[in-house]
Amino acid sequence: MINDTMTNDHLIAPSILSADFGNLQRDIEMLNQSEADWIHVDIMDGLFVPNISFGFPVAEVAYKHATKPLDVHLMIVDPDRYLKRFAAAGAAGITVQLEACPNLHRTIQVIKELGCRAGVAINPHSPVALLEDIVGDLDLVLIMSVNPGFGGQHFIENTYKKVADIKRLAEKYNPDLFIEVDGGVDKNNAGELFSVGANVLVAGSSVFSASSPSAMISTLKNS
Ligand code: DX5
Ligand code: ZN
Repeated sequence: MINDTMTNDHLIAPSILSADFGNLQRDIEMLNQSEADWIHVDIMDGLFVPNISFGFPVAEVAYKHATKPLDVHLMIVDPDRYLKRFAAAGAAGITVQLEACPNLHRTIQVIKELGCRAGVAINPHSPVALLEDIVGDLDLVLIMSVNPGFGGQHFIENTYKKVADIKRLAEKYNPDLFIEVDGGVDKNNAGELFSVGANVLVAGSSVFSASSPSAMISTLKNS
């Protein structure tokens, strides 16, 4: 349910895809103590993307231990089938992939009716212009800065242009829009992403492979 940070500033959403699943409670408690704003939960079905991550039991464990909102990113085909269950599993926000939703407007309305923040993610090949007629209905746009499916990939440089494009659309249609970037985010690109208009950065491997994950979260947030 929505009960989270309302200031759209420099938010960090560490992705538990890179957490230690043998010590998930410990890693979530570390995030609770850190400057992280949201906890990003990547759901992959092996169809929309060539990888399977985890499902409801893991999301429910995250919700049980987290004191911060769960930011659920569905990289799955036909996400309408599971919106209700992810809302029940504790999602504060649900983001679906544009490329997986033939009736995106309807999907967004359902997410909102479930009491969740409604987001749309776009893959690196999808132009931001495809969102022009829906951006006014969204709470969040997620720009994928890698091809979805795996953590630890290289950041695609064209992302800066896409963030600036969605920032322009947001200024016109929806100034409160959250603009989130996901994939290959680290301390080398975080500052520029914020400066071109991003206000939420997802970070998986750069956080969890750092010698001090919570210090890395602070570094990203203050970039
Ligand atoms: C990629 C996922 C990302 C991923 C990011 O398909 O959507 O959220 O966990 O991981 P890093 O930060 O390692 O690229
Ligand atoms: Zn993600």
